[in-house]
Amino acid sequence: MSFRTLDGLEVAGKRVLLRADLNVPVHDGRITDRTRIERLTPTIRELAGKGARVVVCSHFGRPKGKPVAEMSLAPVAAALAEVLGQPVAFAADCIGPVAAAAVAGLAPGGVLLLENTRFHPEEEKNDPGFAAALAALADLYVNDAFSAAHRAHASTEGVAHLLPAYAGRLMQAELTALDAALGHPVRPVAAVVGGAKVSSKLDLLGHLIGRVDVLAIGGAMANTFLAAQGKPVGRSLQEAELHATARDILAQAAAAGCAVLLPVDAVVAAALRPGVSSRVVPVDAVPAEQMILDVGPATVDLLTARLRGLKTLIWNGPLGAFETPPFDAGTLALARAVAAATAAGALVSVAGGGDTVSALHAAGVAERLTYVSTAGGAFLEWMEGKTLPGVAALEA
Ligand code: 3PG
Repeated sequence: MSFRTLDGLEVAGKRVLLRADLNVPVHDGRITDRTRIERLTPTIRELAGKGARVVVCSHFGRPKGKPVAEMSLAPVAAALAEVLGQPVAFAADCIGPVAAAAVAGLAPGGVLLLENTRFHPEEEKNDPGFAAALAALADLYVNDAFSAAHRAHASTEGVAHLLPAYAGRLMQAELTALDAALGHPVRPVAAVVGGAKVSSKLDLLGHLIGRVDVLAIGGAMANTFLAAQGKPVGRSLQEAELHATARDILAQAAAAGCAVLLPVDAVVAAALRPGVSSRVVPVDAVPAEQMILDVGPATVDLLTARLRGLKTLIWNGPLGAFETPPFDAGTLALARAVAAATAAGALVSVAGGGDTVSALHAAGVAERLTYVSTAGGAFLEWMEGKTLPGVAALEA
């Protein structure tokens, strides 16, 4: 696809509505991860530096169409100001007279954050009147919220048809990285897919089979494939009703020339508890009363050896129950191997999804992959081959 970027865009004195994704994680009222704020700053700095009046809007949480105090973006405005190193004004509504007055008070180079767009039920309905009220605040629209682009909402989709629309630098970086990973990858290309359920990743597996040379499956979803092949999985999490589907996926992959890598050994324990006693067994010797909670070292070796011949890797989903040590070992070991191969210049590596990104941070290698997406659901939908409405609306 082709989309307009900020290259050559004249913005001096203009009001720019910048759709950001400031849906940041919060615990006890404190922002626990500022990545999304930090990744937004190149676009804000560029626009403000060229003299635009930057009007930032975003959703925050799921307030279901009404104001909810804990989901106010006011504290995020303070964090944004800190990260940017410049004042950020705040408007207590994202449309109407309150927003209009705040925009009118912005000097060229100034930055304003509007209150949570989801405080209005019309946002998620992609209501044309609400989109028009947002559009009335600006001369241009810039979308930097790839991670919210799977939502056809007024601020991500509707408004893009009402103002000249452009991709911000973060949106541009996400789209460029994803295209390099799966759109037009240098081959051989592999996908690593983990997570709990085959049922939530059927579309993904179906789409990947026709596009990648190697598909590595980990996490509890691998248990369903192992059980479908007649392996004993004990008390492991699995979806017995999907055994036929799993066999079908394996047959389709074989027909498409896509090599599927399943675990060859596993870390098993009696329960998913930190520090519980665990051991490594081959996948055909999982005891009946135990559960698979991570891939074993032989599987990590197999995946690492496979990395050597690859040019591109895309990764979504952890290989084990990584939030509960020691069942993070397989995911962390693969993360380090991917980072090392990337650093050696041999591999283009792109990862996304909340759990995957947390695991990369835990392994201390998030900065060493070619690209780590800020998106969760949008990354997955994009990997499934779906059209993201917020991206489609930017098409030039
Ligand atoms: C995300 O955090 O993935 C995006 O901000 C989208 O949030 P949503 O799932 O509430 O639409």
